[in-house]
Amino acid sequence: MLDFEDAPRQGIKPGSTSNPNPAGAVPDPFALDKQVEPAEPTGTDESVTGLEQVELGGDRVSVDDKRIINCRADVNQLVPFKYQWAWDKYLNACANHWMPQEVNMAADIATWNDPNGLTDDERMILKRGFGFFSSSESLVANNIVLGIFKHLTNPECRQYLLRQAFEEAVHGHCFQYIVESLNLDEGEIFNMYRELPSVHNKAAWALQYTQSLNDPDFQTGTPENDQKFLRDLIAFYVIFEGIWFYAGFVQFLSFGRRNKMTGTAEQIQYIMRDESMHLNFGIDVINQIKIENPNLWTEDFQREVRTMIDEAMHLEIEYAHDTMPRGVLGLNASMFDEYMKFIANRRCSQIGLAELYPGAENPFPWMSEVIDLKKEKNFFETRVIEYQSGGALSWD
Ligand SMILES: [Fe+2]
Ligand SMILES: [Fe+2]
Repeated sequence: MLDFEDAPRQGIKPGSTSNPNPAGAVPDPFALDKQVEPAEPTGTDESVTGLEQVELGGDRVSVDDKRIINCRADVNQLVPFKYQWAWDKYLNACANHWMPQEVNMAADIATWNDPNGLTDDERMILKRGFGFFSSSESLVANNIVLGIFKHLTNPECRQYLLRQAFEEAVHGHCFQYIVESLNLDEGEIFNMYRELPSVHNKAAWALQYTQSLNDPDFQTGTPENDQKFLRDLIAFYVIFEGIWFYAGFVQFLSFGRRNKMTGTAEQIQYIMRDESMHLNFGIDVINQIKIENPNLWTEDFQREVRTMIDEAMHLEIEYAHDTMPRGVLGLNASMFDEYMKFIANRRCSQIGLAELYPGAENPFPWMSEVIDLKKEKNFFETRVIEYQSGGALSWD
């Protein structure tokens, strides 16, 4: 059994940054792709956004011109591809298309409306999970569109970002659909990040990283600003989507494996499938930036990233205790402390850092069992065919 995050990824070539640590050792991130020339130091010329005046008679793009950041080659020319992994993720993401309203919520509605269907603790864990995810999907989407997109100067990566932004919209839709189906107080759920400290604190922590990129005067091209860009990628892809989301996934899926709130759990499985690809994309981008700009990955910067991850861990522990003041569904807060440390160690390895919490173990081995890739794949293959035939029927 595989975790989603460990799922085989099509198109990942030997030497790709997707799996920099196959043997479990901390890799040398610069040993991954020796043929890549480090980028020339920048800082004087602005990188392109794609909205510059079009020059008649301008040059065609060559692969060697392409860079993840600080590229001055035309970003409106999608091909030739330099980063095949980004294009393959775009194709895989499109093949996994789903919509919330395809999932039947009748059983969830019956359970929610039955006074004996769920305990008060179970209702609280669900509502707080909905509250955390509903605003988080928006924050992640805003970070892509308003923080990252402009400064990520590669068209195949931008193609994936556009797909990811749509998926975050679908995920936001998912929580709207759940709130509407269960007739929950929408203000209580969607405003939770302004009302509940443990949800607020995570949002506030992540926002500081995207705010620095959203400054109209911000541009990459200096080591200081390039590190700001990397910090944002780590805060959102590695920590927000790659660590924090996984606590929520365990909580929601714990209901599904006890045959409760199965419609909700099904949607969360699809979200988890999407998010694992977002995480892997972010890790590939981070590692490629490191390869192209080795000057950014200093000892001080690595220390700072480790501190960021540790801070985020403590915020998550606060959240776990807030959502589970007592044991529920066979879960308790201290198991989450351990799980978050286990996941954080893996994320450290994936970006070439030593593990922060040596010896942390996975207290939820069933997570691998819940995520049955083969079954999921059949479901999505069916859906893809339906979307394609439906799209060809009519222009009305
Ligand atoms: Fe999402
Ligand atoms: Fe995401």
